[in-house]
Amino acid sequence: MLKVAIIIGSTRSHRLGERVAQWVELASKEMKDWDITVLDLKKISLPFYDEISVPAEMDRKYPNPKVQAWSKSIEEADAYLIITPEYNHSVPAPLKNAIDWLYPEWANKPAALVGYSTSSTGGARAIEHLRNILATLAVATVRTGLTIGRAQDIIDEKGTCKDENLNKVLRTEFTQLDDWGRAMSSLLKKK
Ligand SMILES: Cc1cc2nc3c(=O)[nH]c(=O)nc-3n(C[C@H](O)[C@H](O)[C@H](O)COP(=O)(O)O)c2cc1C
Repeated sequence: MLKVAIIIGSTRSHRLGERVAQWVELASKEMKDWDITVLDLKKISLPFYDEISVPAEMDRKYPNPKVQAWSKSIEEADAYLIITPEYNHSVPAPLKNAIDWLYPEWANKPAALVGYSTSSTGGARAIEHLRNILATLAVATVRTGLTIGRAQDIIDEKGTCKDENLNKVLRTEFTQLDDWGRAMSSLLKKK
């Protein structure tokens, strides 16, 4: 079993991210050896980073119970599927904040990225920023980065994606995440 955490990066009311997440979650169930958990940053509702120390020096000892729960969820996962919108050519602040809160929990695991936006660029720039951010935390992002341009027209409210190519690319990403998740699992045993 590979423990995969799907992280929903938008926390906005009436967010488009919900239908994107529905699509990804539904498709991910085809991966029979995956144990999937959805981590919705809106529900998790983390405070903005406000500690005296930096996460790399906190040895997972976070005073805030919400952060403790977040730490446990990220620690438990073997691989991440991160869904991000694009805000001003980057990731939304709540996603960056959620990433910043932790440090050792992320290390030596793979991530697959799904970006979307209401314009034709489909979150491509957010995805590229996210790759750099995650590299600092020793998270290896798989090669395929899925971008959904004009996501409001491509994925309906029930999470059905009309675009056959996107459906294919998503499965390719799953395979890449699965391969790296299994390959990197030996590193997690050493922790
Ligand atoms: C603060 C902000 C900045 C945005 N910047 C971009 C952008 O740089 N590129 C883009 O394609 N769309 C941008 N958009 C439009 C988003 O793609 C669109 O609002 C989308 O629905 C956001 O996802 P969400 O509804 O799940 O939060 C921006 C939206 C917001 C709220």
